[in-house]
Amino acid sequence: MKLIWSKESLFNLAKEKFSDHHLIVVSNREPYIHNYVGSKIECEAAVGGVTTALDSVMCATGGLWIACGNSKADKEVVDLNNKVMVPPKEPLYTLKRIWLTKKEINGYYYGFSNQALWPLCHSTYVQPIFSESQWNTYKKVNSKFAQSVLEEIGNRKALVFIQDYHLALLPHLIKEARPEVTVAQFWHIPWPRQQVFSTCPWQEEILNGLLGNDLLGFHTVRHCRNFLTTVNRATKARVNYGKAEVVWNEKETIVRHFPISVDFEQLSQDSQKDEVQEEIKRLKAELGLSDEFIGISIDRLDYTKGIPQRLLAIDRFLDRWPEYKGKTVFIEVQVPSRTQILSYRRLERKVDTLVKKINLKHASGDWKPIITLPGPLPPNTLAALRSMADLCIVSSLHDGMNLVAKEFIASQYDNDGTLILSSSTGAARELGDALLINPLAIDQFAASIKGALDMPKSERHNRMRKKRSIVKKSNIYKWAADIFSELAKLP
Ligand code: F6P
Repeated sequence: MKLIWSKESLFNLAKEKFSDHHLIVVSNREPYIHNYVGSKIECEAAVGGVTTALDSVMCATGGLWIACGNSKADKEVVDLNNKVMVPPKEPLYTLKRIWLTKKEINGYYYGFSNQALWPLCHSTYVQPIFSESQWNTYKKVNSKFAQSVLEEIGNRKALVFIQDYHLALLPHLIKEARPEVTVAQFWHIPWPRQQVFSTCPWQEEILNGLLGNDLLGFHTVRHCRNFLTTVNRATKARVNYGKAEVVWNEKETIVRHFPISVDFEQLSQDSQKDEVQEEIKRLKAELGLSDEFIGISIDRLDYTKGIPQRLLAIDRFLDRWPEYKGKTVFIEVQVPSRTQILSYRRLERKVDTLVKKINLKHASGDWKPIITLPGPLPPNTLAALRSMADLCIVSSLHDGMNLVAKEFIASQYDNDGTLILSSSTGAARELGDALLINPLAIDQFAASIKGALDMPKSERHNRMRKKRSIVKKSNIYKWAADIFSELAKLP
């Protein structure tokens, strides 16, 4: 058994077990986007922990990745089969783009995926919207993906690895057409309690879709259990809780947990690069920072991330311990997300108002407690922020994993940083040495910020060392290797 998985050992494993298979990854979000910059077309990595994580896997294994093309110049660079090799600097795998109409994007992505399934699976008191027309578009787009995957498989032996909740019907559609193809899916968000999922009017169709998988992965044991209970109550499938297996229409689906992670070594090395050290100097000068204690948070502007709660905790912290005014700053990197959805636009306004109010209340002279940086930011700037921060705050109300937490840990090569982490994230299951918080308990949250600031250096180092050793071992290559190893055991 290998101690630390790497790009090389993952490549060897994939070659040993699946060299005769065509590997196809399928997701909604594409890993690379092409845009016009002046008269030129430039390619850059898409924003998002999941695409970044899976890109590392695909660079190790090679293969084909099918995803929606949605950037301005995406159509310009593909060949007649809608394919382009990526990453741009060192092409290692093929990206095949699927084109959706505006109506399809509205019904499938902004609609059923992110107004029904997203709030349904995250317990954050945002009511899911179940619209029949959005559901119909979701079905149509899943069929479109199925057609594209099946075209690619042809007569070959294939392993199809599907990502996330946008494509819940795809596994069944593939299996129905090609029962011998190996199909696996990873559900990157939580699976809620059975009572919650049962409010979805199309729960049986969704479960039927997912039970087309040979292997279905979640981040945590709890998500697996919630899924098995949902299947047990909603269908006539046979559920074996002990083995975490479901038999439905004589087909078996195994359900396992695989906590996703990051490329630890790469992030750790990146934060020590000269360019990143230069970027730290530039950022500090631009933001007018000298030796303040720096807290950072990096989030998509999403109601699951607990951003207003974090701002209220900062406000409470400064109310209770005013001696920290002028000595502490909190940098909030905010990446606009899903802005066509009303609840996201409302959140943006709420966050903006709160930041202005808190800054006005506590500011003095040139100093203000909260600095907002609109994202997405370039990789070197993100690396610089993680590196220069003394504290990272992840305050999600509910989160499948949260890779920002793991990215921060991987960047602390000198062990000198503290992580405040919501106990409602998947990451909290592994990272007990973080300062765990309940983001809704604002007073305790504020006290944790104080605790982070006052923590003796030796304790800070000790806790970070332990967290780094966990993320180092349980890196992104191990996540993929565990999934491939489990698939290799299938009959
Ligand atoms: O974590 C769930 C997820 O859908 C990821 O797949 C993705 O990285 C993230 O949320 C961002 O979502 P979107 O693709 O809608 O920007």
